[in-house]
Amino acid sequence: MVTIRAYLAQDFPGVQAAWVEAFPDDHPENRAESSIAAKLKDSPDLLLVAVDDDHVVGTIMAGYDGHRGWLYSVAVRKSHRGSSIGSKLVEEAEARLRALGCHKINLQIRTDNHRVANFYRSLGYEIEDRISMGKLV
Ligand SMILES: CC(C)(COP(=O)(O)OP(=O)(O)OC[C@H]1O[C@@H](n2cnc3c(N)ncnc32)[C@H](O)[C@@H]1OP(=O)(O)O)[C@@H](O)C(=O)NCCC(=O)NCCS
Repeated sequence: MVTIRAYLAQDFPGVQAAWVEAFPDDHPENRAESSIAAKLKDSPDLLLVAVDDDHVVGTIMAGYDGHRGWLYSVAVRKSHRGSSIGSKLVEEAEARLRALGCHKINLQIRTDNHRVANFYRSLGYEIEDRISMGKLV
């Protein structure tokens, strides 16, 4: 049975493997080695894993800045896709964000991964008329 829970130290290798599989060409600053430690310092309850028999099969990271909630690193191992694990991860992150007072959740999709918008549509998300910008600091 798959359980969704907050990340524990023992999950590191499983999360790292899930991210390498799901986001093979991601920016180095998003790698597990650096981003998990930073997340644990800031809001450990918003880094979630889906575990099946103690093996990490999915991840999600949420953030809340007091104004908006954000979703990052939504990933399910290829071996476990299509069984609603991704949906359950998003729903648990939403519940945790709502409990913090968050009323609006945003996320970004890389243009070369645009088809995944259908996954988020199935969970009630809509494409908004915005230009997304960012800067490494
Ligand atoms: C996106 C992802 C997390 C979905 O996980 P999952 O557990 O397979 O998703 P679910 O089983 O909960 O799927 C829910 C619905 O979304 C659809 N869906 C899932 N992944 C999809 C994708 N990549 N593209 C389009 N639709 C998708 C499913 O068909 C399903 O629709 P249905 O209910 O009509 O059958 C998984 O495909 C993944 O890890 N992809 C690689 C990483 C990634 O792209 N993450 C998102 C970054 S923005």
